Amino acid sequence: MAEVMPLQSDAPIFGRLVVVGLGLIGGSFAKGLRAKHLFREVVGVDLDAESRRLAVELGVVDRCETDLAAACRGADVIQLAVPILAMEKLLAQLAKLELGDAVLTDVGSAKGSVVCAARQAFNGMPARFVPGHPIAGSEQSGVEAAKTTLFRRHKVILTPLEETDSAALVLVDRLWRELGADVEHMQVEHHDQVLAATSHLPHLLAFTLVDSLAQRSENLEIFRYAAGGFRDFTRIAGSDPVMWHDIFLANREAVLRTLDTFRDDLDALRDAVDVGDGHQLLGVFTRARVAREHFSKILARRAYVDAMHSNDLIYLANPGGSLSGRIRVPGDKSISHRSIMLGSLAEGTTEVEGFLEGEDALATLQAFRDMGVVIEGPHHGRVTIHGVGLHGLKSPPGPLYLGNSGTSMRLLSGLLAAQPFDTTLTGDASLSKRPMNRVAKPLREMGAVIETGPEGRPPLQIKGGQRLAGMNYEMPMASAQVKSCLLLAGLYAVGETAVTEPAPTRDHTERMLRGFGYPVAVNGNTAIVESGHKLTASHIEVPADISSAAFFLVAASIAEGSELLLEHVGINPTRTGVIDILKLMGADISLENQREVGGEPVADIRVRSAKLKGIDIPEDLVPLAIDEFPVLFVAAACAEGRTVLRDAEELRVKESDRIQVMADGLQSLGVKAEPTPDGIIIDGGSIGGGEVYSHGDHRIAMSFSVASLRATAPIRIHDCANVATSFPNFLGLAAQVGIRVAEESK
Ligand code: S3P
Repeated sequence: MAEVMPLQSDAPIFGRLVVVGLGLIGGSFAKGLRAKHLFREVVGVDLDAESRRLAVELGVVDRCETDLAAACRGADVIQLAVPILAMEKLLAQLAKLELGDAVLTDVGSAKGSVVCAARQAFNGMPARFVPGHPIAGSEQSGVEAAKTTLFRRHKVILTPLEETDSAALVLVDRLWRELGADVEHMQVEHHDQVLAATSHLPHLLAFTLVDSLAQRSENLEIFRYAAGGFRDFTRIAGSDPVMWHDIFLANREAVLRTLDTFRDDLDALRDAVDVGDGHQLLGVFTRARVAREHFSKILARRAYVDAMHSNDLIYLANPGGSLSGRIRVPGDKSISHRSIMLGSLAEGTTEVEGFLEGEDALATLQAFRDMGVVIEGPHHGRVTIHGVGLHGLKSPPGPLYLGNSGTSMRLLSGLLAAQPFDTTLTGDASLSKRPMNRVAKPLREMGAVIETGPEGRPPLQIKGGQRLAGMNYEMPMASAQVKSCLLLAGLYAVGETAVTEPAPTRDHTERMLRGFGYPVAVNGNTAIVESGHKLTASHIEVPADISSAAFFLVAASIAEGSELLLEHVGINPTRTGVIDILKLMGADISLENQREVGGEPVADIRVRSAKLKGIDIPEDLVPLAIDEFPVLFVAAACAEGRTVLRDAEELRVKESDRIQVMADGLQSLGVKAEPTPDGIIIDGGSIGGGEVYSHGDHRIAMSFSVASLRATAPIRIHDCANVATSFPNFLGLAAQVGIRVAEESK
C-alpha cells in the first residue's frame, strides 16, 4: 500500500483513486481530490451512463470504467459512495475481486449496517476497510452538483474497528483533511446513536408531521395558513424519500431506541397538557430554549472560527483618552451565583433582578436546570426560579460543565456531596488546572466521597447518598469559596458546621442564607449553620459588581481630566478593599447615596482623576480586594514611586497565575514589575505599547485595556474571549465612557 508522505511537489503521491457512485458526495470527493493532484488518476464507476459522461465532462474524474473489476485492479484507494442499501451488493461484488493492498472506505450515513455487510461479504471485517461518514450535503443532488469545497469545514466521522489497519486509517483521515474537513474518530455504535438522534429522528418527525396534516386536509388547504414556524420545522421533509427510506432501514435499531425515548417524552408532555401541568411545560420549554441557544452558539462559533481561522479574540487598545459620564456595570458575579443556588433550594418562587448574564453565572444556572429546576430567563437581568426545596434536586443527565467558573465548581461541590445522586463536575482548560483539594479535603472529613483528577484538579466525581456530619473547620487560606462550600454542605450535615477564616472574606453566602430565612450564626471569624431548617423563596436585587466597577475606578483615576459616576455598586465591606487601596494611593473616590438593598449595602461611586502614589499594600486588605489586583497593578504602574504587594499567593491560582501573567504583560509594556513568590513589586513610570497575553483571564484582558489610557502606543491584548465570563458588554461600556478599546478588526 502507498505510504503517507509529506507533499513535496505537485507530483502525485498515490496511484489510482476509484470512486464507486458518482452522486453529490462521491462526485465531490473525486473532484476535490483530483484538484489536489494527490493521485495519478481518479476513476469513476457508476451504473448510469449519463452520470459517467458528465463526470468526465465536468472534470470530476479523469475517466470512467463500466467494469468494477477493471477499475479496482491495482487501485490504491476505493471510495464506496453508493446508496446505503446498495452497499451490501457492492461489497459482495468487491469481495470476489483481487483488491491487492487497496484501502476501502465508504460514505454511508449509518455505519453498523455497512460494517455488518462488509463482515458478511468478506468473511470478517477487512483490515483495510475504514468506514466513514461525511456530514455534508446540499439540496441539489447528482454528479452535476459535485463541488470541490463541499466538505470544507464540515465534520467527517471515521469509525475504525479494532481490526482496522492504522496506516489505512491515517490515509483516509488525510484524504478528508486535504478536502478541508474536520475529521473525528468514533465508535460505530456511538456514531449510529448520535446520528439517529440528531439527524434521523428529526427527518422522521418532519416527514410524519407533514404527511399527517396533509392526509387530514382536503386539497392540502390547511397549508395556506401555515407560517414561518411550520416552514422551518418541516424544511427537511423535502429531502430525498428514497435515500431516507434507505437510512431508516439501515439504522433501524438506533432509530427505534431514540424514537422510543422521544415517544415517552412526548407522552409526558401530552399528559402535562391534559392535566394542565404548566410547571412541567415550562420546564421542558425553558430547558429546550437554552439547549437550542447553546446549539446556535456552537454554530455561530464555527462560523466565527471559519472567518478568523483562530479563536484568539484580540482587543486593540489605543492610547490616551479621559473618562466621563455615568454607567451601571453588570450585576455582581458572586451574588448572581448564590441567587441561583439558594433560589433553587428554596421553597417557592424566587425573583432575581440585576442578574449577571455572564458565562460564569450562566454556568451555575444551567447546572441547576440540568438538575431539574425550572428557571425562567435571564431576560434583561430578570430570572425567575421555581425552587424545589433542599431535597428536590434531581440527578443530572450527564456531567455538569461549569466552563471557566471556579465559584460554580467549589460551591456546588459542597451542595452535591450531600445529594442522593452521583455527579461529575468538569470545566474548561483554565478551570481544569485549578486546585480543588481545598474543598475536597474538608468535605471528605465531613463524610463526603469525592474523587479529583491528578493533583487535586478537576474533574470532580462526587458520590451521592452519603451522610455528612458537621464539623469545625479552620480554613488554611482566606477563601470565600471554601467557606461557602462547607456552609452549603452544612445545610445537610448532622449537627453544626462551623467554618473559621484566617481573615475576613466576602460574606454573601451568609447574608443571602439569612435573606432566605435560614439561620446563620457568626461568632468573630466563625460562621455556623446547622441542618434542619428550610429556605423560603425571596426577592433578590443584585447590585452592580464592584469587581467590574474596579476597572473604571482605576481608569478614571489614571486618565487625566476624568470624572465618572458608577451607579448602584455593591459596597459590602468584605469587597471594598479596592476602594481603600486606591484611596491610600491618593485616588479621589467618594460614595454617594448609600443605601441597603436586599441585605447588601449599595452606593453610587464618584471617581475623579488624581495623582497616584505607590504604597505598601496593607496585608489585611488583600482578601478584601482579591479579584481587583490585576487592575490595581495598572494603577501602581501609573503611580509615582514603588508599590509592594505581599501575602497574596492566592493570586497564583486564580483564572491564571495573576502575578506572573501581569508581571509579564507589564514588563513587555516597559514597566518595572518584579514578581515575588507571594506578590509583586511595581515601580511606577511610563507605559509603552506592545503585545500582551491575557492567558484567557478576563480580568487581565480588561486591566490591560485600562492601561492604554496612559500608554504611549497601542496595546494588543490576546485571548480576550473570556471577558464574557464576568463582563458582557465591557467593550460597549468602555467605549461609552472614553476608553479607546475595541475588538481588532480582521
Ligand atoms: C468568590 C471568592 C473568591 C473570588 C472569586 C469569587 C466567591 O475566590 O476570587 O472570584 O464568589 O466566593 P476564593 O474563595 O478562591 O478567594
